[in-house]
Amino acid sequence: MASTSFIISLALLILILILHLSSSSAASHHHRQHHHQPPPPNPKLQQAYIALQAFKKVIYSDPHNFTTNWIGPNVCKYNGIYCSPSHYDNKTKVVTGIDLNGVDIAGYLPDELGLLSDLALIHLNSNRFCGILPQTLSNLSLLFELDLSNNRFVGPFPTVVLSLPSLKYLDLRYNEFEGSLPPQLFTKNLDAIFINNNWFSNVVPPSFVKSTASVIVFANNKLGGCLPPSISNFANTLEELLLINTSVSRCLPPEVGYLYKLKVLDVSHNNLVGPIPYSIVGLAHLEQLNLAHNMMSGIVPMGVCVLPNLVNFTFSYNFFCEEEGICGNLSSNGIAFDDRLNCLPEKPKQRSEKDCELALEHPVDCLHYHCGGGGSGGSNAIPPAMVPAAATPLLSPYLAPGNA
Ligand SMILES: *[C@@H]1O[C@H](CO)[C@@H](O)[C@H](O)[C@H]1NC(C)=O
Ligand SMILES: *[C@@H]1O[C@H](CO)[C@@H](O)[C@H](O)[C@H]1NC(C)=O
Ligand SMILES: *[C@@H]1O[C@H](CO)[C@@H](O)[C@H](O)[C@H]1NC(C)=O
Ligand SMILES: *[C@@H]1O[C@H](CO)[C@@H](O)[C@H](O)[C@H]1NC(C)=O
Ligand SMILES: *[C@@H]1O[C@H](CO)[C@@H](O)[C@H](O)[C@H]1NC(C)=O
Ligand SMILES: *[C@@H]1O[C@H](CO)[C@@H](O)[C@H](O)[C@H]1NC(C)=O
Repeated sequence: MASTSFIISLALLILILILHLSSSSAASHHHRQHHHQPPPPNPKLQQAYIALQAFKKVIYSDPHNFTTNWIGPNVCKYNGIYCSPSHYDNKTKVVTGIDLNGVDIAGYLPDELGLLSDLALIHLNSNRFCGILPQTLSNLSLLFELDLSNNRFVGPFPTVVLSLPSLKYLDLRYNEFEGSLPPQLFTKNLDAIFINNNWFSNVVPPSFVKSTASVIVFANNKLGGCLPPSISNFANTLEELLLINTSVSRCLPPEVGYLYKLKVLDVSHNNLVGPIPYSIVGLAHLEQLNLAHNMMSGIVPMGVCVLPNLVNFTFSYNFFCEEEGICGNLSSNGIAFDDRLNCLPEKPKQRSEKDCELALEHPVDCLHYHCGGGGSGGSNAIPPAMVPAAATPLLSPYLAPGNA
């Protein structure tokens, strides 16, 4: 009896031991799994994992090892990946941001990025991304900010961005996009459009003036065209218009004076002719005005020089022949200015008398040399033969068709 009970209690003890061991090993196994390989918390993050692994696979150079920690399903811990509660269900965590600004990564954007349908912002500024944008980006219905600036994207304007219903901020500057701008870019409800320093060409589409953006930067593209009177459509929204070096020609329309919210107007390095419209006195918020490197002429009107918020007025490299009133002494108003290389008799560093005499003999008549009618149809397109080339000699305003 005693031996039987001993055997039974021994068996019990062994059983308890086995149970304990197996449960503790299960616990420790479970613990280990929790520490190193947690299951993805929800299907959205599972999709994000697939997308980001596909993305990592097509990153060919990552000199700062920025994406080295893009391993395992916990995508919210990845460098540059931001998670927050879903727009649709605040109990579900989703990937809402990718910020890889300035990490010098080379690669391209894979189709799988379309899986990240909760993204609100993508910042890829200053990397070496190349190729074109995948069509699947049209799945990003919540995308608000897209910054692809300073990369090596190529091809025609990436029309996929036009299908993004929530997009407000579009920055494509410093890439190698080419071809024309689609008219739909300007009927989309964007707040800011940066397309400067690409290879876009052709005239600015007439629908350009339909934009409701507050900032439009076209600089350093070969766009051509001119500023139509319908530019006044911008009045309620536009605060910054930068058309530097975009082959814009003809006269500044008087309607530019209706853009009462404008703070920055930079039309330098173009082929503009004719005078500064007097209406510019209406730009009460204007802080920066740059007209330099055009072929403008006539009087610099006092209205500009007394604008209450003006801090910098640059109009060098034109053919202005007179500065009205205080315009001749802008520094006394605390306004930074540059009036060199004009035809201002009392100022230093002006053009030669000969060049200036020719300019005076052939004033530009903006009534005949304005930017065609009203922004509908293609009427403000100028046939290429009529557009003076950017590097034409200084006398080219007199070769303008309205004065020939
Ligand atoms: C990145 O990782 C590689 C390989 O582990 C290493 O040789 C290199 O020094 C790292 N670079 C930086 C900037 O940390
Ligand atoms: C989450 O959403 C529910 C229902 O839409 C709402 O009542 C709740 O206040 C929200 N919680 C947070 C933290 O936003
Ligand atoms: C778009 O997003 C949905 C859900 O977020 C996903 O199921 C679908 O596969 C995505 N489509 C593409 C083309 O990535
Ligand atoms: C104007 O833009 C062209 C490209 O369209 C560029 O080659 C040129 O250097 C720019 N000129 C200035 C003065 O920035
Ligand atoms: C005024 O504007 C011009 C053109 O943008 C710029 O080159 C110059 O540095 C500015 N001057 C001052 C004092 O800010
Ligand atoms: C410019 O204005 C300053 C200060 O108001 C004055 O001292 C100076 O004589 C003026 N210069 C010219 C050329 O009128």
